Amino acid sequence: MIGVLVSGGGTNLQALLDAGLPVVAVASNRRGAPALARAGAIPTAAFELADFPDRAARDSAMADWLEQQGVRIVVLAGYMHLLTPAFLDRFPDAVVNVHPSLLPAFPGAHAVEEQLAAGVAESGATVHLVDEGVDSGPILAQERVSVLPGDTPDSLHERIKTVEHRLLPEVVRELCAR
Ligand code: GRF
Repeated sequence: MIGVLVSGGGTNLQALLDAGLPVVAVASNRRGAPALARAGAIPTAAFELADFPDRAARDSAMADWLEQQGVRIVVLAGYMHLLTPAFLDRFPDAVVNVHPSLLPAFPGAHAVEEQLAAGVAESGATVHLVDEGVDSGPILAQERVSVLPGDTPDSLHERIKTVEHRLLPEVVRELCAR
């Protein structure tokens, strides 16, 4: 039973759904996240920081809701907030993230732009277990993606996402089977 956290467009959520994985809940830190519209009949909820006294209170409410939906594994699919122990301790070793670089290189929200600015010849996609850090935590799978002459942030990100959409469902399927 998988819960997915989203903030943006949700193409990775779509890949999990298309792979037939048992997604039972989708939550966001943004009420207006376009990704929520992809959930169809799957229950969704928004947990905006402004509605709570602090981050721990928000995270604990979000964990409560996911647990009520039967969630055992949490996938961050373009979720753009750090998670506190109030959340992570509720799903030990069962929160995974997908990131558009060969971690530990280029963590953070601007990884694609920073890789192009640094002139790297190779980028990639990484799926890893989540801890309190920024895109840190044990790496579960990683795949290289070429940077091509003339790449823009959008063109490179699209090429990386094509890999993410295959890699993330593979890893999540393995986690479900363990
Ligand atoms: C992906 O590139 C993911 O690696 C990063 O945020 C992006 C989310 O894209 N963490 P989407 O919302 O799944 O389309």
